[in-house]
Amino acid sequence: MGLAVGGEDVYNERRMEMIELLKGPRYGIKDERVLEAMEKVPRHEFVPQEERLRAYEDSPLPIGFGQTISQPFIVAYMTEALKLKSTDRVLEVGTGSGYQAAVLSHLVKEVYSIEIVEGLAKRAAKTLLKLAYENVKTKFADGYQGWPDKAPFDALIVTCAPDKIPQALIDQLKEGGRMIIPVGKEGHVQELYLLQKKGGKVREKVVMPVRFVPMTGGGRK
Ligand SMILES: C[S@@+](CC[C@H](N)C(=O)[O-])C[C@H]1O[C@@H](n2cnc3c(N)ncnc32)[C@H](O)[C@@H]1O
Repeated sequence: MGLAVGGEDVYNERRMEMIELLKGPRYGIKDERVLEAMEKVPRHEFVPQEERLRAYEDSPLPIGFGQTISQPFIVAYMTEALKLKSTDRVLEVGTGSGYQAAVLSHLVKEVYSIEIVEGLAKRAAKTLLKLAYENVKTKFADGYQGWPDKAPFDALIVTCAPDKIPQALIDQLKEGGRMIIPVGKEGHVQELYLLQKKGGKVREKVVMPVRFVPMTGGGRK
């Protein structure tokens, strides 16, 4: 018999379609660990009730407070670029819904995530607790300064765009560590940077054009 629209089976089916799209020729995500993590995380639990049926669509979605949950491809691409290991400790700036943090939690030892909008920080913490993502620690703060007392990190992922890469975040990256971060002004084409710290030096490359919400707080004076 058919299931009620919005039943768990509907979400499971849509999640599998999302994974197929990510793996397919359009997006070409190859890292099996990333794909498995995204197969496990119930993305619909991270969006407002009225957006749930759209949770697995190939687009960002509103999550309230003028913010968005990123498009699944962007989550997959940024996560894959970090080449994460199960022993890693990762910092995310821009918790938003908590979805990206949940994906990371399947891949690494510890996730630290900072959100500047209190309502979002509280809601994400509640969702992550409800779904028992125990290796994720969240904080309501300005992520421009990173999380100094938990640094250094093996990897950093920034999901809001500053005008330039905050030095505090570079400083909190371990030797050999990677950072993925969008840079640029709101309303303009921004660039997604991949950084790696090697021999105390930072090597950076632009990997693709993107459009993210701005980093506020110290990132916009
Ligand atoms: C595209 S959304 C994040 C999506 C999120 N990673 C998810 O999985 O839902 C960007 C988030 O960055 C937050 N943000 C903007 N500036 C920030 C700052 N200085 N520190 C921490 N969070 C910030 C915004 O409030 C917003 O929730």
